[in-house]
Amino acid sequence: MFSSSERILVTGGAGFIGSAVVRALFRNTDARIINADKLTYAGDLASVAEASASDRYVFEHADVCDGKMLSRIFRTHQPTAVLHLAAESHVDRSINGAAEFIRTNVVGTQTLLDVARSYWSELDGDRKQGFRFHHVSTDEVYGSLDDSGFFTEESAYRPNSPYAASKASSDHLVHAWHRTYGLPAIITNCSNNYGPYQFPEKLIPLMICQALDGKSLPVYGSGRNVRDWLYVEDHASALITVLRRGRPGETYNIGGSAETANIDLVERLCSVLDRLHPDAEGPYRRLITFVPDRPGHDFRYAIDYAKIKRELGWHPRETLEGGIEKTVRWYLANRRWTDRIRSRNYDGRRLGLVASGAW
Ligand code: NAD
Ligand code: TYD
Repeated sequence: MFSSSERILVTGGAGFIGSAVVRALFRNTDARIINADKLTYAGDLASVAEASASDRYVFEHADVCDGKMLSRIFRTHQPTAVLHLAAESHVDRSINGAAEFIRTNVVGTQTLLDVARSYWSELDGDRKQGFRFHHVSTDEVYGSLDDSGFFTEESAYRPNSPYAASKASSDHLVHAWHRTYGLPAIITNCSNNYGPYQFPEKLIPLMICQALDGKSLPVYGSGRNVRDWLYVEDHASALITVLRRGRPGETYNIGGSAETANIDLVERLCSVLDRLHPDAEGPYRRLITFVPDRPGHDFRYAIDYAKIKRELGWHPRETLEGGIEKTVRWYLANRRWTDRIRSRNYDGRRLGLVASGAW
């Protein structure tokens, strides 16, 4: 694994996946970790508290669109690799307004690429050879599948939501910086994640929090849309594996082999809650409410992760059953965290409906 001479700059390390990466790097390697995060509504440093007192960890309050700040961070900390996770990440918010998605995901990625390239071009020998820029992306860039088939690394880019379009743009920029300037960049495209510290606007934590508050569980459209779920710690281990042994210029798809229709997932969450935290009012499924569909709602995502399995030996360790159990237990044990987040940053209201005549 990484030795103490490695200094890994993680952008977005106060977010859901970024914090899981920081925790995994902290627990399982000797690397130094530089966490650069703007602390938007989605960032919270409680998720990295276990690392914060260590001299192997430093936090930089930084916006990835701020080139001057990034240059200072590179000069000061001399990273041996960058793991770029900072992004606006919620499809429904991107439907309400795309500006922040274009700013952070596209302009922020271009700014970070420019600063990283300038820093990398001044390195020499092994340090230049070993440097990596790892861009963390989503399977949503590939668009939507019907009932059959899987996304592979060769699938065409067909993003449908403003979020997916912004991530697709950032992937193209990373690819271009590799081809044009030789920056040793790698892209990973992953399916839907779930687990501890996920902001309660995404399906799984939202449903858990709503249920515990006795509020309705809003299922979009028919509830038959399918997502391929991956436990966040499996994603973190995939990212660390790719950072160590992935080949520059390559893309790796990461998935969970856990395709589930939304309604089946919500019912599963309800039964786990019924067992772990029964409600005197009756089974939680009574709260399920079908609501108007998300505009442009992608029907199905499913990842073929044969390449990362074949080349790097990674595969998901957690089953959907085990991961859901752990996740529900975590949210039950951390209600102070979700209550704080929900009272300060988001109260669970419906996002992502198109307002008529907005333009
Ligand atoms: P998140 O929304 O939980 O966290 C994003 C983090 O980025 C936050 O800490 C936020 O403060 C920070 N951030 C936002 N704008 C910033 C800026 N301008 N400068 C610096 N920091 C900024 O997101 P997540 O779910 O952890 O996703 C992390 C990455 O993984 C994203 O790039 C996302 O596209 C990708 N991804 C997410 C999933 C998923 O299921 N959540 C799946 C595949 C890929
Ligand atoms: P989400 O967690 O927002 O992830 P993504 O849109 O990136 O896949 O949504 C997962 C699925 O759940 C998606 O098909 C939309 C659906 N969904 C609901 O049915 N109700 C909800 O309240 C939310 C947030 C999502």
